Amino acid sequence: MRKPIIAGNWKMNKTIDQGISFVNEIKEKIAGTDAEVVLCPPATMLAQLKQAATGTGVKIGAQNMHQAEDGAFTGEISAAMLSDLKIDYVIIGHSERRQYFNETDQGVNEKVLKALETGITPILCCGETLEEREAGNTNEVVKKQVLAGLEGVPAEKAATVVIAYEPIWAIGTGKTATSEDANTVISFIRESVDAVYGKEVSEAVRIQYGGSVKPSNVKTLMAETDIDGALVGGASLDPESFLGLLDF
Ligand code: 13P
Repeated sequence: MRKPIIAGNWKMNKTIDQGISFVNEIKEKIAGTDAEVVLCPPATMLAQLKQAATGTGVKIGAQNMHQAEDGAFTGEISAAMLSDLKIDYVIIGHSERRQYFNETDQGVNEKVLKALETGITPILCCGETLEEREAGNTNEVVKKQVLAGLEGVPAEKAATVVIAYEPIWAIGTGKTATSEDANTVISFIRESVDAVYGKEVSEAVRIQYGGSVKPSNVKTLMAETDIDGALVGGASLDPESFLGLLDF
């Protein structure tokens, strides 16, 4: 049985005080959820949020990291630095990073390998643009992103990676993929993982859906056989709304 994973990607939002208040507000209310609960705040508050979340069941993820061990990369944060803070997860290859910061499949792969080597679980993102979907290329695009991202990852580690399918046209637009469409693509991603790693890994890998997930649509999405969780932007910013995402 795959444990569902609901993760909030706060993107470039919130101050440290707001982040800590959020954790304090949800921490007692998450008891009893079936899901693993993850918050991915901006890097400025990773340390404080990890501290506030310790002992609460809330796990903390970063939104990005650099693939190099260390060195002259002004403004960047390494996997070792995240590990220093005992960060559990790191989002890698989010479409906003691919789009605005020119991240490539190769760089994404290097980050995945480095995160795993450092003991941090990657949340590997994939997703097609509207043009790619309309041209009927969704499967091809996501398969390439996922398999390129996992290149060189051994089977036992591949099983621990979380994949997030986030169609770009559904991010922040209010347009959600129908739960059937999301499940179809996610099943296809699982088959693609199966073709490389076999059933044991593909049945263990958790695959989230992301893109305008809200308390009002999370139940329908989570009822699908292959959707193991959600990576949520806008609806993860308010504590009440975030708690609503756990009610599926
Ligand atoms: P929204 O939930 O705001 O559409 O964002 C999705 C996302 O990009 C999460 O990583």
